[in-house]
Amino acid sequence: MADYQTHEHDVIVIGAGGAGLRAAIEASASGVSVGLVCKSLLGKAHTVMAEGGIAAALANVDDRDNWKVHFADTMRGGQYVNNWRMAQLHAQEAPARVRELEAWGAVFDRTPDGKILQRNFGGHKYPRLAHVGDRTGLELIRTLQDHGIHQGISVYMERTVVRLLKDGDRISGALAYDRERGRWTVFKAKAIILATGGIGKAYKITSNSWEYTGDGHTLAYDVGAELIDMEFVQFHPTGMVWPPSVRGILVTEGVRGEGGVLRNKEGKRFMFGDIPENYKPQTAADEEEGFRYVLGDKEARRPPELLTRDHVARCIVREVKEGRGSPHGGVFLELQTFAEWFGKKSKGFNAAEHWKKKLPSMYHQFKELGGLDLTKESMEVGPTTHYMMGGVRVDSDSQMSRIPGLFACGECAAGINGANRLGGNSLSDLLVLGKRAGEYAAQYAKANPATTIHTEQVDSAAKWALAPFDRTSDENPFKIQADLQDMMQDLVGIVRKEDEMQRALEGLEKLKARAAKVQVTGNREYNPGWHTALDLHNLLTVSEGITIGAILRKESRGAQFRDDYPKKDNAKFGKVNSIIAKGPDGKMQIRLEEIPAMPQELKDAVMAEAGGVLPDELK
Ligand code: FUM
Repeated sequence: MADYQTHEHDVIVIGAGGAGLRAAIEASASGVSVGLVCKSLLGKAHTVMAEGGIAAALANVDDRDNWKVHFADTMRGGQYVNNWRMAQLHAQEAPARVRELEAWGAVFDRTPDGKILQRNFGGHKYPRLAHVGDRTGLELIRTLQDHGIHQGISVYMERTVVRLLKDGDRISGALAYDRERGRWTVFKAKAIILATGGIGKAYKITSNSWEYTGDGHTLAYDVGAELIDMEFVQFHPTGMVWPPSVRGILVTEGVRGEGGVLRNKEGKRFMFGDIPENYKPQTAADEEEGFRYVLGDKEARRPPELLTRDHVARCIVREVKEGRGSPHGGVFLELQTFAEWFGKKSKGFNAAEHWKKKLPSMYHQFKELGGLDLTKESMEVGPTTHYMMGGVRVDSDSQMSRIPGLFACGECAAGINGANRLGGNSLSDLLVLGKRAGEYAAQYAKANPATTIHTEQVDSAAKWALAPFDRTSDENPFKIQADLQDMMQDLVGIVRKEDEMQRALEGLEKLKARAAKVQVTGNREYNPGWHTALDLHNLLTVSEGITIGAILRKESRGAQFRDDYPKKDNAKFGKVNSIIAKGPDGKMQIRLEEIPAMPQELKDAVMAEAGGVLPDELK
């Protein structure tokens, strides 16, 4: 029998990034006892990688902004397969969540008249991102932690959850080990909120750190929850490409929001050559227009560098593939053109001081890691796996999955972003839907009796997790992980093809067989080999979900680009989500499900931003 200690709370939150913290604060404020469990240390979350800002229609910089425009932008960015109700709640409630954060002590950059400053970002019609330099995610986490610390939340750090536990149909707890000693803990609860973030470590090039191995996705799937739209993986257009040791580290979209432009090795602003029809026509002669827009000129046009991420990432891939890339396989991102233009207009403009103030982290990052001064030199950038649009399927208002008592929010939940997320919507999503998850989980915990922990579930999960110590084989967990990352990057990456993805499916079966034989040595104390061996189950599960979703969706939409089906197919795929669940035989099953019709008020909001025409997907 497994030897374990038990901690009991009404609500357990797994994951302490922005979504988990916001959920924990809300549940605790509702008067229930809350435990917050995190795999790493408090404050070390991918939330900090949302550097450029929080999207909310505060209308501080452009008074034409409002929730309906934000809603329409989010739906257009997601190519209309979003959960429209989530997108509506998100757009409506984001301003209040930002003001609340401000009241809790968050520091923001300010407009001359003292309001929260908002910057431009891809796909947002108006300057909408409330920010502090390029450290917004960090400030959000700091504020939530400071606020949460006074709420009486119990925090359990460096605990990795390996299995969720059930009492009949209901969720009843979670089994975790601590990294320091490898001891077992059962977290007993009436409700559990998953807020574990993304899946970036399934890919070789990623902005995600070691924690992001699809844990929440897999924990939920393993106990019978559904996953939705797993084919949609976001490749952020700008990660560092050089030196190799830092490849993938994020270069915030805020650089382009502040006037950064993309050029190929011929010095051409290639984004001008690739402007979609539904975007105002623009030519290189309009360069100045784009810069005026960056300064908040209401009449100016958006620069093409601020098209949606899926589009910009694909254009960069094309430039590199066709031999017009930078020396290390990316393209150039530079601030000098804007600085020269602005310098002529504004006497005494000091470019170096300006960028150090606007983009302090980027300045430091390139200086320290790349030996480059971004105020004077061009950066080399290329796409990096950044965010997972697919995840646990939850109710739009309450964030509860189909398993009673199991909630999810933030990146590991899905629906709001459809086929592509707009930058900055992650931070507002985690505030809005994190709050909702906390509120509804607390309500659920108050309305339902205590659960029972069934020790046979604990024993079987502990036995499974310890099995790699008892094996003798030459299968090494790090090698399997690296092979998986290479394969996903090559075969199920930014540009996808049927035959390559079929090869990936075969490859996944082989990797699963290898993972079943994986051996680890040493003991349970701080044993990274053991931790990686356990992560493999999650990484392989989400990789299979991504691959079968991408095979099923025979079209290109948002982040899913199929070389063999390069167009959208609205008739077949414009009104459906892909849904994944474990079948009775234990195998992963996938189906398409129709999206409910959008109410007229929301259709009107979309049409108002689409030249009076209702997109085919919504007809
Ligand atoms: O580019 C960025 O600052 C990332 C923001 C986001 O992913 O929301």
